[in-house]
Amino acid sequence: MKLWGGRFTKSTNQLVDEYTASITFDKKLASYDIKGSLAHVKMLKKCSVIPANDADMIIDGLHTVADKIENGEAVLHEEHEDIHMNVEKLLTDEIGQVGGKLHTGRSRNDQVALDMRLYLRDVILELTQLLKNVQLALYKQAETHQNTVLPGYTHLQRAQPVLFAHHMLAYVFMFERDVERLTDSWKRVNQMPLGAGALAGTTFPIDRNFVAEELHFDGVCDNSLDAVSDRDFVVEFLSNGSMIAMHLSRLCEEMVQWSSAEFNFIELDDAFSTGSSMMPQKKNPDVPELVRGKTGRVFGHLTGMLTMLKGLPLAYNKDMQEDKEGMFDTAETLSGALRLFAPMIETMHVKDDSMYQAVRKDYSNATDLADYLTEKGMTFRESHEAVGSIVLHCINEGKYILDLNLDELQSFSALIENDIFEALSPEAVVDARKAYGGTGRQSVKQQMEKALKIIKAN
Ligand code: ARG
Repeated sequence: MKLWGGRFTKSTNQLVDEYTASITFDKKLASYDIKGSLAHVKMLKKCSVIPANDADMIIDGLHTVADKIENGEAVLHEEHEDIHMNVEKLLTDEIGQVGGKLHTGRSRNDQVALDMRLYLRDVILELTQLLKNVQLALYKQAETHQNTVLPGYTHLQRAQPVLFAHHMLAYVFMFERDVERLTDSWKRVNQMPLGAGALAGTTFPIDRNFVAEELHFDGVCDNSLDAVSDRDFVVEFLSNGSMIAMHLSRLCEEMVQWSSAEFNFIELDDAFSTGSSMMPQKKNPDVPELVRGKTGRVFGHLTGMLTMLKGLPLAYNKDMQEDKEGMFDTAETLSGALRLFAPMIETMHVKDDSMYQAVRKDYSNATDLADYLTEKGMTFRESHEAVGSIVLHCINEGKYILDLNLDELQSFSALIENDIFEALSPEAVVDARKAYGGTGRQSVKQQMEKALKIIKAN
């Protein structure tokens, strides 16, 4: 017998039951559903919508149901469609017909919106903490490698040397904006929809603010149609999640490249690497590869949700049941990745010497030679041209700029003097970028201070 069976003369086709049920996935909302129901029934009691005795029985019953679901004693059935009706069924099994009073003044439409908001609040708090752990791991690598120089790239071509600490801090600041976005979304998630009913509100003399306070919401949704029919707070989460996944994926890509013999800049700890079933020599960066790969499903859920919503008239439509799996999967995918990331970064071995050797064997100090000539009076265009010729000469001779002696250098420009050798060393080239935000050691120290402050904040 369905909870809504009254107006039907036939039972539902089994295929319809299977197709429309959401219990296989929305059972993840069980604890939130019960938490919401507890607040709702306390309000019904306080407002004398139902008798106090009945309310107390329902409250006790809900606690029993919660325990039984938690310890696996309760069986959730597809024929009861979703978590909301399963909980109500379990409740009436427990306490009898009085359980039927729980749904007074409420619809599954406002109930499911509430459950999702309660769920997302926990996800936001969890992901924020996990992001902070990743930031801290990156910060620690930055701290240990404040003097490590490596090639910086544009177009994946050697461009100018940078400090490894500078590179790590770039991600700390990216993840900080991700934290900010999650934190900012809180005020939109944290509005209480119950009381919207199916779409138009309720005829019962309820107290929505009581429920909001009981569940620690900042306020109540202002419009019942909006409350049950929009899922912009889910879209926003999926968008923020996509940004996190995108940032993680870029770092993953670098870790994969850096682990190759071609780069040879880092080695992941054995505990965070995997081998090959055939090739005995292999040590593979599977974790960063898989995190990079899983970015696809996270972006997919964002696109899926936007597309699902775009043609829906107000208010609730069954299409909206499709809002859950992508949200769960995004939350779980990100938390899984971030959980691994902090220890993986922390234990990553950084090959300072190999990075330094790479910088010694490239032309990434060419800009500094051009700047040097410009300071000595050439226009930047002239010095750009002159240094271009020097680099071309070096390429033809199989040399790097610092391999040339003073005579050879002066044959390109008489302005070059003996101090050039010091000025073009990797350390000097890095330190010359003094202005805040640049890769100079002094600037990086200041960035570190700021980074630590924001990581430690709240
Ligand atoms: N399982 C439904 C969902 O997740 C709950 C709301 C259903 N409401 C309804 N009137 N069919 O969307």
